Amino acid sequence: MVKICCIGAGYVGGPTMAVIALKSPAVEVVVVDISVARINAWNSDQLPIYEPGLDDVVKQCRGRNLFFSTDVEKHVCEANIIFVSVNTPTKTRGLGAGKAADLTYWESAARMIADVSKSDKIVVEKSTVPVKTAEAIEKILTHNSKGINYQILSNPEFLAEGTAIQDLFKPDRVLIGGRETPEGRKAVQALKDVYAQWVPEERILTTNLWSAELSKLAANAFLAQRISSVNAISALCEATGANITEVAYSVGKDSRIGPKFLNASVGFGGSCFQKDILNLVYICECNGLSEVANYWKQVIKINDYQKSRFVNRVVSSMFNTVSGKKIAVLGFAFKKDTGDTRETPAIDVCKGLLGDKATISIYDPQVTEDQIQRDLAMNKFDWDHPIHLQPLSPTAFTQVAVTWDAYEATKGAHGVCILTEWDEFKDLDFQKIYDSMHKPAFLFDGRNVVDVEKLRAIGFIVYAIGKPLDPWLKDMPAVA
Ligand code: NAI
Repeated sequence: MVKICCIGAGYVGGPTMAVIALKSPAVEVVVVDISVARINAWNSDQLPIYEPGLDDVVKQCRGRNLFFSTDVEKHVCEANIIFVSVNTPTKTRGLGAGKAADLTYWESAARMIADVSKSDKIVVEKSTVPVKTAEAIEKILTHNSKGINYQILSNPEFLAEGTAIQDLFKPDRVLIGGRETPEGRKAVQALKDVYAQWVPEERILTTNLWSAELSKLAANAFLAQRISSVNAISALCEATGANITEVAYSVGKDSRIGPKFLNASVGFGGSCFQKDILNLVYICECNGLSEVANYWKQVIKINDYQKSRFVNRVVSSMFNTVSGKKIAVLGFAFKKDTGDTRETPAIDVCKGLLGDKATISIYDPQVTEDQIQRDLAMNKFDWDHPIHLQPLSPTAFTQVAVTWDAYEATKGAHGVCILTEWDEFKDLDFQKIYDSMHKPAFLFDGRNVVDVEKLRAIGFIVYAIGKPLDPWLKDMPAVA
């Protein structure tokens, strides 16, 4: 029987292993983590992450061939295939700080595998890692290998939060990289057999190790670059009277470009895009490719620009100050259908508004008050040039309220900022919201979810990213 152990029960490890267990009933899957709280949550009715469809999948196979445990060493020792899906954040200090991936968690997982293993293992890189990581991992594993054979595979995960289960059920592709030796090919085949239970053969791509590692970083860089490209054009739309929705539609109709991922917004977020581009930038710099590094850096700079441009637009529209004014923030997660707030643009936008002494009232259907307060208390890490936001004074937190209702958040507000594209925001009773607000009532749509004309007819002064400006806003000072 194939026994799989996955180290790391996070946004990737949890859903991925749940789907493998569901689709391959003959495989036993144990997900292990050092976080007791996370494992307890995976074993409860309140899963630690929100993902549409995940509850169902877990309910079907938990206790059958899917288990969650903190007994990391036991399950690593018993497994034939070990996925490593630990976090790989950006290094915050030391060599490469601000760009390089921090592989501390990875290295400690690899050392533990080397320590406890008593039989041959296939070790699968599921985390996103710098190209050539497999070489380092191999050295750690084989350093004191007691005659054990380790095969390292790279099997990066392409799921997107919010659609993880659908992405796992019907992946565009599954990528498996391995050594081009007989043992390497055998290991690739063993992992291929697991996915082949539900993924069509032609969608399982096999490559060399370095191509697989680099493809994940490259794919995220390309995706983020599309968002920064459309956001850069959105600024020009506002300056010229063009409409970003029309421009993006016309551009995306070109089959060489395609329609997906061309929505202008307040900026991209999530735990991966910025981190993985910085990682790519660092690898380019280490290889003496400074022009290539600068090219990709610009994708992040445009993202920071888009967030500060949004804050500036709010402040300048509201007579150049939001001091003492109540701003309602609708949506805090980095995108809809997830409670994840890592690198969400809402953090920088809220900090920018608090820096101008606004009072903010936040509503998000999936993010807890604790999480929001933690996110706002954290210093922004300066990866290159700091985004020009004032550090928060301790009193800032008394200026933040979190509510569980959009109407409560917007009651008595001077302005509303929509920062996540939750579907429910489209169906809000905006007349009711308008009636409860101070006048003039401003609405800043950072996700292009509202019907601008309808809201203007109610009386709102509306700003929507990349859309022709409200006549009122045209008379306001220009936004840098
Ligand atoms: P996460 O932070 O949600 O989960 C990582 C888990 O690993 C944590 O629960 C942590 O306690 C555990 N862990 C760390 N060191 C450990 C150790 N030595 N032993 C046992 N458990 C340990 O991270 P997430 O979002 O699941 O990401 C994991 C990797 O997958 C990252 O490299 C990320 O870049 C990549 N990835 C993430 C995607 C996403 O949408 N979140 C999508 C595709 C890839």
